[in-house]
Amino acid sequence: MAQQWKGPLPLGCPMPYTPRYAAIVRNSFDVVVPENELKMFWSHPDPLSYDFGLGDGLVAWARDHGKTVRGHTLVFGDALADWIGQLPFSLFPAGRALLRIPNLGLDKIIPPDFLWTRQLGLAVMRDFITRTVSHYATHFPGVVPEWDVVNEAFDDEGHYNDNLFLRVIGPDYIAKAFEYAHAADPHALLFYNEYDAQEPNARQRAVAAMAADFKRRGVPIDGIGIQVHVSATDYPTSAQLRRVMREYRKLGLRVEVSELDVSAPPTRYGLERQARAYRSIVGDCRAAPNCTGITVWGVADPYSWRGDAAEPLLYDDALKAKPFFPALREMLRAPPAVALPAVAATAPRRQRSRS
Ligand code: XIL
Repeated sequence: MAQQWKGPLPLGCPMPYTPRYAAIVRNSFDVVVPENELKMFWSHPDPLSYDFGLGDGLVAWARDHGKTVRGHTLVFGDALADWIGQLPFSLFPAGRALLRIPNLGLDKIIPPDFLWTRQLGLAVMRDFITRTVSHYATHFPGVVPEWDVVNEAFDDEGHYNDNLFLRVIGPDYIAKAFEYAHAADPHALLFYNEYDAQEPNARQRAVAAMAADFKRRGVPIDGIGIQVHVSATDYPTSAQLRRVMREYRKLGLRVEVSELDVSAPPTRYGLERQARAYRSIVGDCRAAPNCTGITVWGVADPYSWRGDAAEPLLYDDALKAKPFFPALREMLRAPPAVALPAVAATAPRRQRSRS
């Protein structure tokens, strides 16, 4: 497929909360992403209240420093608020106090979907999506141009991951979430975001089938977030990753590498392999006409969600850029014909794991 110059690719990262980090993000990144601050468990901690405090701080910082924000993430089974599985106790302060008593086990006695109906599920999901998306569209116009609307809905066999919205609404909770987000901000780009789907496999096929169905039915989806949490010894080959990107392109969808990190042993050899993996993945996005951005899932190794030993990020323990970072940054800025290094057709494969 012919390569097409699409301008510099924006580079994103989570917003770290110290001045030294902020200086790095200010100078070397274009986009910030709330790593946890806008997940439901954080921003909608009980049925009657919202807390956008941390999210607003991050988005205001982005606005004041000329960055944009990837809104992350509206409906994520792993990050739903506890209260939705604790009705009716979570509705009232006294009930919430009871729930906090250790070993009382009220939440075990009352099944999580007790009291829930499809209608109530849709209403709660709609309220959360509408409140969140319109809050940012209204108070920070133009700063949050994109949202991960649904996150990690499939397992590695391509079946739906269990969560309360799936149980009480049914599989169409996913399409409904996109419709609600679109209604709340018709200008926002809406993504479905998935992990371990960076190469053709059962989970990736489920995502592609869902996306094709959404396009056929006019469900407002704009792109797929390809997370790419990998290791220096097991990452997608260019053939695999580009094939996945091309498949979405044929559906009229853009893609972003949405949560890149590459774990590696802290040796010189490990660092070289890590550099090669980063170059390969960034090169694949560079080469795919529909790949419009890359976000790394963390700035410096000590604070990676993958733990201390993984060392998966672009800055090291001393908050120094790794030696390969400047060249990577250039690849993001320069036309592919100039900057793309040769990329190995195959990468070594080993056992895969998430951490
Ligand atoms: C992770 C955060 O990085 C951690 O701080 C948190 O404890 C758990 O979630 N896929 C996603 C992200 O879409 O939201 C997850 O973030 C990592 C996997």
